[in-house]
Amino acid sequence: MSIYQMRTYHLASESAVPDYLAIWAAHVSSLAEFDVVTHGFSPVPGNSKAVVALVSFQDEVDPDTVIRDYMNSDGFRNDMANFDMSQIEQVDTLLLAPLSAAEGSQTMTSRRGAKDVGRLEGKVALITGGARGQGEAEARRFAREGALVYLCDVLSEQGETLAADIRAEGGSAQFKSLDVTDEDQWHRVIDEIDEEAGRLDILINNAGTNARRSLTDTTRETWDKILDVNLTGQFLGMQACAPLMQRTGGGSIVNLGSTAGIMGHPVAAYSSSKWGIRGITKAAAINFAPMGIRVNAMHPGVVETPMMDSTSRLFKNLVNMTPLGRAANSDEMAAAALFLASDDASFVTGIDLPVDGGFSELGTYGEIWNRINSH
Ligand SMILES: NC(=O)c1ccc[n+]([C@@H]2O[C@H](COP(=O)([O-])OP(=O)(O)OC[C@H]3O[C@@H](n4cnc5c(N)ncnc54)[C@H](O)[C@@H]3O)[C@@H](O)[C@H]2O)c1
Repeated sequence: MSIYQMRTYHLASESAVPDYLAIWAAHVSSLAEFDVVTHGFSPVPGNSKAVVALVSFQDEVDPDTVIRDYMNSDGFRNDMANFDMSQIEQVDTLLLAPLSAAEGSQTMTSRRGAKDVGRLEGKVALITGGARGQGEAEARRFAREGALVYLCDVLSEQGETLAADIRAEGGSAQFKSLDVTDEDQWHRVIDEIDEEAGRLDILINNAGTNARRSLTDTTRETWDKILDVNLTGQFLGMQACAPLMQRTGGGSIVNLGSTAGIMGHPVAAYSSSKWGIRGITKAAAINFAPMGIRVNAMHPGVVETPMMDSTSRLFKNLVNMTPLGRAANSDEMAAAALFLASDDASFVTGIDLPVDGGFSELGTYGEIWNRINSH
């Protein structure tokens, strides 16, 4: 039995509808290469800014995976070559047939993403450094949980593409260009979010940078840059976001630190910035508690992202010293950020949460134990 799906594309303007219908005509043959049959597509009666398409997938495939593979194909890129992806604001999908025998009685399932459980339904989240790495995973997860996600970064092209991808998967996401060290840009972004979404519930201060130099090899310029992005960026972010959060009922702020801010660490600038995050998190948690805003820090250990070269000796040694014996992936970081950001952590504020496979709490004695017992 095929899996039928109705896909509704909410566009930014009425004028985009004819262009998008023309693109759907092109999609028909490129989707067929992925065994997806298009049964029809049309404007939505009564909604001048939407297009709906009815498609079917072969039995026992995951429609989200098929669509993701399709969106990574040359066929899709060719179809979309002359269309501005940012015109697609949201995609709603509705399954019209059972996914499997186990779901036999379920004939209609509304989905916003692959595993939507709605822990952030109705919430608006701003994620800095959201274009790649952990920020990307947080943006994808938060959107699947029902949030409207504003992903903010200096990497505009990557950010725009990611936001479009999340929308195509049924989530709500917008990209905003933001250099976290620039106070004026913070205020512009918050004003725009206030105008567009009318609220802000979550700030993930995730943007970060590093330069692995000892104290004596660190120039003043490098010191300023790392402190500026990693610490001042979070200070400016909290200052800019708190008033809107307070006005719309409170919220949750998650500051990304590092085990370099929990333990002794050889990189002076990076480590200092991350120790500073612990201080500013606690100060903000005290200052903002009466405003209904919780503030917490989470501290990743070794995570496979563009910041951490997985072929480097540093990476391999970090993995060796991690009691769980591996690096984390970004989805595990997103899961921890989700806990702190969501109402599941409604009585948690001012904490430092290591998410490091035991590195900071168990690493040294664990390694000694392993060495003693392996000889
Ligand atoms: N990867 C790890 O092993 C690891 C370990 C501990 C802590 N962290 C921390 O986790 C956070 C996420 O890092 P990641 O691993 O995803 O690295 P990443 O380099 O993949 O992502 C960092 C993001 O921050 C953005 N960014 C940098 N400067 C910016 C600025 N001025 N304004 C706006 N955005 C800016 C980058 O463009 C990038 O998208 C960082 O705060 C990092 O220090 C990472």
